Amino acid sequence: MKIKKSILALIPYPPGKPIEELTREYGIQSVIKLASNENPLGPSPLALRAIRKALSQLHRYPDGSGYYLKQSLGRFLGVSPEQILLGNGSNEIIELALKTFLKPGFEVISPVPSFLVYEKAVQAMGGKNILVPLKRFTIDLEAIRGRINPRTQIIIINNPNNPTGTIIKRKIWERFLSSIPDRVLILLDEAYIDFVEDPDCPNGLDYLHSGKNLIVFRTFSKAYGLAGLRIGYGLTRPELADYINRVRQPFNVNSLAQAGALGALKDQAFYEKTLSLVRAGKKAIEGELARMGLFFVPSQTNYILIKVPQKAQVVYEAMLKKGIIIRSMKEYGLEEYIRVNIGLPEENRRFLRALKQVLNRKINIRQD
Ligand SMILES: Cc1ncc(COP(=O)(O)O)c(C=O)c1O
Repeated sequence: MKIKKSILALIPYPPGKPIEELTREYGIQSVIKLASNENPLGPSPLALRAIRKALSQLHRYPDGSGYYLKQSLGRFLGVSPEQILLGNGSNEIIELALKTFLKPGFEVISPVPSFLVYEKAVQAMGGKNILVPLKRFTIDLEAIRGRINPRTQIIIINNPNNPTGTIIKRKIWERFLSSIPDRVLILLDEAYIDFVEDPDCPNGLDYLHSGKNLIVFRTFSKAYGLAGLRIGYGLTRPELADYINRVRQPFNVNSLAQAGALGALKDQAFYEKTLSLVRAGKKAIEGELARMGLFFVPSQTNYILIKVPQKAQVVYEAMLKKGIIIRSMKEYGLEEYIRVNIGLPEENRRFLRALKQVLNRKINIRQD
């Protein structure tokens, strides 16, 4: 069988190492994972309650239209249910948008480094990636606009950007949006928007009626702690939502995910607790990193990109041996950077203690 060239060249997305794997490989019992920007508080308790209630109906197919969740999300966000797309994680909707709108061989512009899934999904769909480098760790919208040509079909923007944690400011975004030709589709991934503290960060919802072809992506994986459940959503014009709904599987969002998301939306206490925990944890970690003399990118999210004075892969391995899973940013082309997400206060302290030991030990070896 002849395999497509684009698939042969595809390197799978590297997920964060699971805790169980580290326990198995190193025999370490007390492992903490700060590698996948998950919620350290666990899942929303109201989501769990709703999921338990829904268990007895698992013999039924889920509601393929996601009626109740769309109603509830619509009220919550002030959009109409026809504008909402539900997905098996927001990642699925990103893929569905590409599957629906991208013609093979046409171009998709996205920033680099950014979320690796974009580039891989475009490649898998037979599109051509045009990767535009960040400027001072921030998405360079002017450079992105400069790459638009007649073969450009889609632009993917991640605000805030993963892995840098930086945002695009409102004025710059608005200038960019108004300059994009109507034939181009903009995918705006706002997976981390909940954590943003800067009031100058644009909110994708405010631009759904701009007349542009815009799809905004959000997720229950982060601020609501439901990453394992796989539920995210997209917001757009009803016309575009309708096209994507023709492409998706009829039961793409399972019934527990729908129930969990409905429960989570009522759990504003958990949501607020998560935001305060992340904000306080971030302040504490950033303060300590500054005292350690390490460069980091000030973050608007629940993770921090940190420069280490040696290969990130070496630091990653050394941290693993101490039972702490972080991310080496090698795959993102940032060989001297690690990314760590904010954990519980004691996890943050353990991370900082271990990082100091790992870096000092390395420095001592170098001095010998
Ligand atoms: C930028 C970005 N978008 C989307 C996602 C995934 O979201 P979901 O779990 O809803 O598929 C992530 C997860 O890490 C992410 O970093």
